[in-house]
Amino acid sequence: MKIIQLSDLHLVGKDGVSLYGIDPNYRLYKAFKSINKHHRDAEFVVITGDLTDSASPDAYEVLSQSIEKCTMPVYLILGNHDKRDIFKKSFQDFIGFDFIQYVKEVDNTAHIFLDTLVEDCSYGELCSSRMSWLKEKLEKYQDNFIYMYMHHHPVDSGLYEMDNEANFKSNKEFWELLKGYKNIKSITFGHLHRIMHTVKNGISLHSTKSTTFQVAYKPESKVEYLTNDEKPTYAVIDVDRDGNTRVHHHEFLDEDRFYLGDY
Ligand SMILES: [Fe+2]
Ligand SMILES: [Fe+2]
Repeated sequence: MKIIQLSDLHLVGKDGVSLYGIDPNYRLYKAFKSINKHHRDAEFVVITGDLTDSASPDAYEVLSQSIEKCTMPVYLILGNHDKRDIFKKSFQDFIGFDFIQYVKEVDNTAHIFLDTLVEDCSYGELCSSRMSWLKEKLEKYQDNFIYMYMHHHPVDSGLYEMDNEANFKSNKEFWELLKGYKNIKSITFGHLHRIMHTVKNGISLHSTKSTTFQVAYKPESKVEYLTNDEKPTYAVIDVDRDGNTRVHHHEFLDEDRFYLGDY
């Protein structure tokens, strides 16, 4: 089973509107073009939040139209830059629970999509209602391998502001709950605008870069995020027979030049 992760699109609206000199719509177009070309066998694409930069209706419309061009299902997660009510106007299908949390079953695996958004805050949480929903799903899928997707990072990143201001506030209860379920194989998250991988309690965790701008690796910076022009990536997550994941991060912007090295 193959899954593709895109993250932190930060869409701003119609074509040609830029963010830090970058056109987020063009980046998304290039990402989908690459995915359609190379990964038609994937089960789905998950976009791990910050779908838009400032939750403008135009930006959600762009996303809605872009998704139609993708040859496989695209599942969405909200990030701290999104707003539920505006999102719901463009994506009626996701309405059903107060929060944008849902499960998709693929063969004998369960994929749980979480909503960690606290509106107008950079940090995230799972309130008691979202946490109870999660507990219910973990109980229901005890006999399946589980894969979870969320925007905020449920582990320390080593980046000061990400871990102290824009962090996931429900970490303690979250990990307390997860302790009881040994069938959770991986957690895929966004928000960092960086590639990061770690393992906690036997669960593999990773993020991939933003399709738009990246956060520089400057752990000592305590003031604000430093962004830079590292190339964007999407993650290709392959799941083996034992349920374990192997993750590659693909730079999709200039992918057509291949050459044989002299070695
Ligand atoms: Fe972001
Ligand atoms: Fe974020």
